[in-house]
Parts: sequence; structure tokens; C-alpha cells
Amino acid sequence: MRQRRILLTSALPYANGSIHIGHLVEYIYTDIWARYLRMTGAEARYFCADDTHGTPIQIRAMKEGRSPEELIRHYHEEHQRDFRDFQIEFDCFHSTHSEENRRWSERIFAAAKEKGHIARRVVEQTYCAHDKMFLPDRFVRGNCPKCGAEDQYGDSCEACSATYTTTELVKPRCAVCGNPPERKSSEHLFFELQKLSAELHAWTKHPDHLQAEVANSVQPWIEGGLRDWDISRDGPYFGFPIPGEDNLYFYVWMDAPIGYIATTQRWCDENGRQVEEFWSDPETEIYHVIGKDIVYFHCLFWPAMLMDADLNLPTSVVVHGFLTVEGTKMSKSRGTLINARTYLDHLPPEYLRYYFATKLNGRVEDIDLSFEDFTNRVNSELVNKIANLASRSLSFVEKRLDGRLGHIPDDAGSLMAARRQALHKAQAAYERRDVAAAVDEAVTLAEQGNLYLQSRAPWEAMKSDPERARAICTAAANAMMTVGVIIRPVLPVLADRLAAMLQVSPFDWRAGEATLEDRAIGKFEHLAGRVQREQLDAIVEASRADEPDATPPLAGESYEVEELQPICEFTDFAKVDLRVARIVTAETVKKADKLLRLELCLGPLGRRNVFAGIRKAFPEPGALEGRHVVCVANLAPRKMRFGVSEGMVLAAGDGAGIHLLELDADARPGDRIS
Ligand code: 2FM
Ligand code: ZN
Repeated sequence: MRQRRILLTSALPYANGSIHIGHLVEYIYTDIWARYLRMTGAEARYFCADDTHGTPIQIRAMKEGRSPEELIRHYHEEHQRDFRDFQIEFDCFHSTHSEENRRWSERIFAAAKEKGHIARRVVEQTYCAHDKMFLPDRFVRGNCPKCGAEDQYGDSCEACSATYTTTELVKPRCAVCGNPPERKSSEHLFFELQKLSAELHAWTKHPDHLQAEVANSVQPWIEGGLRDWDISRDGPYFGFPIPGEDNLYFYVWMDAPIGYIATTQRWCDENGRQVEEFWSDPETEIYHVIGKDIVYFHCLFWPAMLMDADLNLPTSVVVHGFLTVEGTKMSKSRGTLINARTYLDHLPPEYLRYYFATKLNGRVEDIDLSFEDFTNRVNSELVNKIANLASRSLSFVEKRLDGRLGHIPDDAGSLMAARRQALHKAQAAYERRDVAAAVDEAVTLAEQGNLYLQSRAPWEAMKSDPERARAICTAAANAMMTVGVIIRPVLPVLADRLAAMLQVSPFDWRAGEATLEDRAIGKFEHLAGRVQREQLDAIVEASRADEPDATPPLAGESYEVEELQPICEFTDFAKVDLRVARIVTAETVKKADKLLRLELCLGPLGRRNVFAGIRKAFPEPGALEGRHVVCVANLAPRKMRFGVSEGMVLAAGDGAGIHLLELDADARPGDRIS
């Protein structure tokens, strides 16, 4: 059978900021998966690069009085150090500011042009005559046209959340030099995505290509009609000039994903391989692991470019959720925006790798880092179960039994069966990218190994029958070997230390089911120590004090915000019929401890029976009677176990509390809310 050839990528980090733990979710995830695949004998290549082009980088370098090249060099080195110290092993970590990327960008652009998918159109943009450059919306500041708040971005107001265009901003000024900008027209190049609409739609329909929830969000974009995509920017711009054009450059989001190919090219050149083996051979599998914020680019723009260039399309785009810390968005002031290096100054990389692994289940949902959960998981699973099994079996053999394993005893049959089963289940879990389930198998097996040791008590057997003690420890050591194999993609350095103790090489997937008997083991070394809550507190303290970044990003923003196609068009929203409703009766529902049954009066629209999940907030439902609330009046009736629900009342709440949206007492039932 031909060896599986697999190319894996993570999103390319911007070259103007440090790697933080939010980024690490993705790199750790992809690294775990690449390591697993290599352990099965596949050729799995993990490629990544710095994303170096665009206005934010250019402006920041300008403000700091250094060249963009210098800025991106600084971060290239820092990123590589951080990844290395988190045990993230790329086959190649390159840069989009490279000759390989220039060549591939030109080639892919030429292919799209050749296919007749590039159009020209005049666009009007904000321009700073002083800096002689066009400004993305976020680089224009001014007063909000709606509420008058000062110093707001060019596209939205942080005070009142209004959105508007840069031209509507009152007293606009350039965020770089402070001068008022002007409007200026120029000709741009557009990728006519719509022309590939049918192909893209078909591609997103294949269940392997996208997770169901991702497909569900992408397909309406296509069905609603795809807009042309502006792939050019006016000079001066830090990027690649577009061949044959006067002062036009490729937009950063055009050349960024091409960086995946450019990095493959670089690695192939250095290793005597052909880039076509990865990007043209239909047998090669390609996986892009990304965060949920860049789905549009990877599920529409990128496949479209690849289609035009007749290159392989991704086998899957794998989307994960964002990281929250202690249940909320990471925040500098709370000390939860933790840089990779700050974490490493206090704790070993293994703990975070382990913790993230317990959460990464292949779904798009967000992942929360709770410090209490982190401490518990590391101490009760990694230390008390996994590391403990190694120390109870191997350290005992080393100290008391001359460092030699014996034979697996007959009474270890079920432990040995558990071993085989755990290995197979873990393999299936890794294959479906459910790392959390694989880790669970390792923990459960370690637990079984510990229970076996506990019940057979080799320390007791030692007194009368050392060979029996040796046999018991041999069974436990074999279980430990399988635990080590399963956990190795997650904790490669720790697992390799175990392999050295067991004197097993290679420590690959097959070693998980091999039998170790009648042989010497190496010197015992502890695998992991307990984590103290104070260590996490120290990280939070240090993060609060960390410089925002050695060289701060402009206006609190380090990236250009791309205008995405809305999922819910105004016309969709307008279909929702919101009405004033008066609660006539509110009562509990038998055998449904979350629900209340509400009878609503909608004036001329009559009465409605609605089941609402708000009981927790209203232990005395009678108190609701007479209140005026907001009802979705045209919701399709839903048949429930207790009856039919004929609408919905609006409430706010995140689980901690529920607050009904209420109207003034004189609001007239049945009136439309708009
Ligand atoms: O969102 C980001 O951080 C981008 N730098 C990701 C680019 S991924 C790829 F397309 F290059
Ligand atoms: Zn300016």
C-alpha cells in the first residue's frame, strides 16, 4: 500500500505581534495531529509561515522608523523560538515575503486572469496626501456621526456601536499623521468569485471538506451571490507588485494563503522533492487548520484560486473555536492575554499542550481555559494517573528488581485487553481529529493500570515472591507503554523520556501493542510534577505587566478588517415579526423544570400559547402576569411534549441570569416593534 502523503497547515501568524495562548490552540492542535499521523507511518508535513504583508505592518514600521523587513525579521525569529519551546515542530516555517511566494502569487494571478476571472473597476478610497498612501478604514479616526463620541475608527463606533463609512465620520483624520484625509479614485483588480459559484457550492457540499456547522454558514454566502473580491492595493504597499500593473500590489489576503504553497516549495527545494507531489498529486491529502474568523478566506477565496490554478483543493478545512480564559474573552487588563513566552517563564509547555488536548474535540465551539480546571486536570490526570503509573511500575523495577522486566502474568488478561482496546479507540479518535477522546483513552488506561497495581500490591508480593512482584510491574509497564504511545502526539518530549526508560525505539503507533518482557529498562526519571495555582496567578500578574508588545500595534489593532458578507441580510431580518405582547397567564409546566407556559395577548392578533425556558428566573410565575414583553409573532408553531408553542418571547441572559425584554406598561398589545 502506498504511504499516505499529507500536508497540514495552520493559519499564518501576522508578523507584527507576539504569539499568545489564543494562537497556540491552533498550532498545538495541528502539531498533535501531524505527530500522530507520522507515528502511523504516514508522510505528514506540517508547513507554516509568517504573514508579512499589508498596511498595518507597513505603517507600524514607518512609525517606528525602521523598515518593514526589519520588523518582520524580528518577529520571524521570535515566533520560531516560541514555537520551538512549545514543542511545535514544523517541517518548514517560512515567510510570505519570499521569492517562492512572489513567484507563486504571480502564477496564481496569471491563471485566474487566463481563466477570465479578473475584472477591473474604479474604486474610491480614503487617501492621506501627507503620507501619500491609501488608508484602510481602521486607519482613519474621527467623531462618530451618530453619537458624536470622539476618536472613533473609520467604520464603527465603540461608544454606540453604530456602523458607517469613513466618509460619514465627522472631522476625520489620518491615524498616522493626524491630517484630514481625502477621497481619491483608482483602478483596482477584482477576482470574480461569482463565476466559480457552482464549483464552490459543489465543493462545500462534500461532507469531508467542511464540518457541518461550517458548511451551513458558508453555503448561504454562496446562495446569496458572491461579491467580486478586490485583490489589489495601491502603492506604496508592503507586498508584491502586480505584474503589468502600474503601482498596484497584491492584497495581503491574496498572497497569504499562497504562502502555504510557497512554504511547500521552499521545503521541497531544500529536500530534493517536487512541489507537485503535494499540490498536484490527487492522492495527497491537504488539511488547513484555521480559526472560525477566517472561514470566508479559506472556504471561498482560497479554493477559488486553487481551482483556477488547477491545483489540489483542500481535503478538509478544519475549523476550531476561539480561546476564552476564565469564561471570557482574553483581556490585557485582566492579565488573561498571555504571551507564549510569559507562560513559558512560569510553567512547562506540556501542561498547556495537555490541557488544550483535553478540549480539542474537532468541533467549532470555543474552548475555555479555566485555571481551576487546568490545575485539576494536570494534577489529577497527567500527574496522578499518567506519571504516577510510570513511577509506580518503572521506578519500582529499577530500585527493587535490578531494573529488569519479567513476564506478563496470567491475571493481567483484562489489563492487556484494555490496552489493545484503548489503542484502537485512540487511533479512531485521532483519525476523526478528536484529540480529547484520544487523551481520554490514555487517562482511562492509566487509571486501569494503577488499579491493577493497587489490587496486586507488588510491594507486598516483594516480601515473599519477588518474581511475582516483577510480573505485576511488567504488566503495568506494558500498559504504561501504550499510554505513552497514545499520549506521545500531545506530549512528545515526555513520551520520549518514557521511551528511553523503556528502551523502545521507534516509539511509534506499533509500539503501543508490542509486548515488553524479560529485558532491562533504563534509568527512571519523573515525568511530571504538580502544578500550583500560584503559578497561574503569577502568569496573570506578569501578563498584566507585560508590554503590550515591544512595538505596539496601531490604534489597538494589528490587522486589517476585511468586510465579510453578512449571513443575515436585512431582508432576512425584516421577515421577523416582533410584536408587543401582554402576559395574561404564567404558570409552571409539570415535569419541565426549566419551562413556563405563558398565555400572551397580542391585541388584534389574538392569544398565543408559548412555552419559554425562563422558569429559573421566575420562581413565582404569577408576578409576570400583566407585563408587556416582546414576542416573535410569526415563528412557525413548534410541537413540544407539553403542547404547541406558538411564538417566542425575547430575553437576555448567558445562563447566569435571565432578563425578559420588557416594554412600557402603556405599549399596546399587537403593535409592531421595529
Ligand atoms: O488571521 C490571521 O491571523 C492571518 N494572518 C491568517 C492568514 S492564514 C493564510 F491564509 F495565510
Ligand atoms: Zn497621514
